[in-house]
Amino acid sequence: MSTTETSTDYETITVSPLNGACGAEVAGVDLTGEVAPQTVAEIIKALDVHSVVRFRGQELSPPAQERFAARFGELAVYPFAEPTAESQHVFPIIKTAEQTENFGGAWHSDSAYLDTPPSYTMLYGVKTPEVGGHTLFTSQRLVTADMTSGFLDELTGMRVVYRAGNVPRYDRVDRDGMHHQSNPEVAERDVDHPLVRVHPNTGERFLFLSRLHTRRFKGMTEEESRPLLDQLFSMQIRAEYASWMDWEDGQLTIWDNRIVLHYALNNYQNELRHMHRTTVLGEVPLAG
Ligand code: SIN
Repeated sequence: MSTTETSTDYETITVSPLNGACGAEVAGVDLTGEVAPQTVAEIIKALDVHSVVRFRGQELSPPAQERFAARFGELAVYPFAEPTAESQHVFPIIKTAEQTENFGGAWHSDSAYLDTPPSYTMLYGVKTPEVGGHTLFTSQRLVTADMTSGFLDELTGMRVVYRAGNVPRYDRVDRDGMHHQSNPEVAERDVDHPLVRVHPNTGERFLFLSRLHTRRFKGMTEEESRPLLDQLFSMQIRAEYASWMDWEDGQLTIWDNRIVLHYALNNYQNELRHMHRTTVLGEVPLAG
């Protein structure tokens, strides 16, 4: 598959770009019903091209969200929060009207500290703020494309070490609308992945790291790793590579968690934001 599209790629859906960097709106499909295999294949094609897609006007209960997500692969269980009562693969992300901190307010790729980080994240807006509460994205395709081949070759072959390392932060069960749980075995475990990955669908090479979870280069200390890591962290979030997603109730947004970073923007207060998240297990990252 390629990262370009033609008018004949989509027969069952329509795909309209939302932004120059990444993001598109998909229309013409009811995700609560039986979604045909061809439609799933076309949605994956849209994700290969646009990295982030949204579907508006959906009514997804947790079991319906789980059923739809399972069409994309095996589902993951998030290790640091309790799932909904109805589905172990859907967990709520809630910021109450009284709360000031949010969840996911830093550049990251979901659960990159796992051996098989998620391929796709599916986030559904149950109750979204009137104004604000956007999710920002940066396209690692664009970051990588702007690098010289010399610099990319220097980075190829390096591995980066991930650690969730968030036991203190998440050891605060029930302080807000979410049921956080510490999970020291997962949180304190180091996992390394190639810094330059190959996308299994498109064959493209892209940078894979993020400030929230990447600690150091394999074989180096954190101090030794810091200068180059800081340089890469700054490069991968330049405004030119970014887009933002607006939310409304009943919207499902899917992103290719391998090739975009995201950031939950805490640009609203005194309002409830209630989302449901499901992740699809990806592959062991392929080295570029
Ligand atoms: C996340 O980091 O997965 C949450 C994103 C969001 O709430 O917008």
